[in-house]
Amino acid sequence: MPYIVRPMEIDDIPEVTAIERQCFSMPWPANAYRRELRDNRLSRYIVAEWVENEEAREWQKSALARKQQLHETAARGKSPVRRALEHLFQGLTRPEQEPRTVKLAGYAGLWLMLDEAHVTTIAVRPSLRGQGLGELLFVGLTDLAMALGARYLTLEVRVSNIVAQNLYKKYGFHEEGIRKRYYSDNSEDALIMWSEPLGSASFQNRLADLKSALNKKLAKAKPLRTEQAEDSTAAM
Ligand SMILES: CC(C)(COP(=O)(O)OP(=O)(O)OC[C@H]1O[C@@H](n2cnc3c(N)ncnc32)[C@H](O)[C@@H]1OP(=O)(O)O)[C@@H](O)C(=O)NCCC(=O)NCCS
Repeated sequence: MPYIVRPMEIDDIPEVTAIERQCFSMPWPANAYRRELRDNRLSRYIVAEWVENEEAREWQKSALARKQQLHETAARGKSPVRRALEHLFQGLTRPEQEPRTVKLAGYAGLWLMLDEAHVTTIAVRPSLRGQGLGELLFVGLTDLAMALGARYLTLEVRVSNIVAQNLYKKYGFHEEGIRKRYYSDNSEDALIMWSEPLGSASFQNRLADLKSALNKKLAKAKPLRTEQAEDSTAAM
């Protein structure tokens, strides 16, 4: 699969905020993402990244898995441990002939609140939509939520955002109410959607089936070229 999902890093923020501006009418500024990554212990963000070849993908996966593991350990640990691990992160540099990675296709995030994971954002570059990348990120969030011990996933979505609603419904989400005039730019209502219990057999079976179909679809996903980073479309 030409795209991998990995934790968002501070260095990703310029690209993330560029995509954000293409996707949302009320984009978060770079500072908001910096705060989320550095200061919010309840938040987790991921990106979908195009990597050029198998070697690059393998390197990327192992380095980032290690880094993520250290992050999780550090987040659980006491402050001296945390400091030591942060020091270790700094030493986790890329090898000399580092395989070059290209650009991000999209990103997504959640906040963990007790046993609920709240989706805070999900976005895919306009030019790369419709080939499973939104789903890849959504599955990434779902896996993350389960790994963090969440029992449910929930989110708000504009009542007019049928594309996103379809994505969530595909994963068994249902509507559980409306937040009136939730979006301040146009006073649009938000639909509140909830997953089934993440540990339930029906959710797990659906997830397994959808993941397998998604893998096949993503094998054919088109690569991200530099010029696609410049695309734009109507913001949500
Ligand atoms: C929502 C978003 C992330 C979906 O990403 P994407 O890569 O285009 O979606 P995928 O190709 O993975 O499609 C997944 C599912 O979404 C739905 N979907 C995607 N494109 C659709 C379209 N044009 N019309 C209707 N439903 C659509 C379908 O259910 C689709 O599953 P299917 O292929 O089996 O029909 C993307 O449209 C986006 O970034 N939108 C702007 C930001 C946004 O609105 N975020 C959501 C905030 S709540």
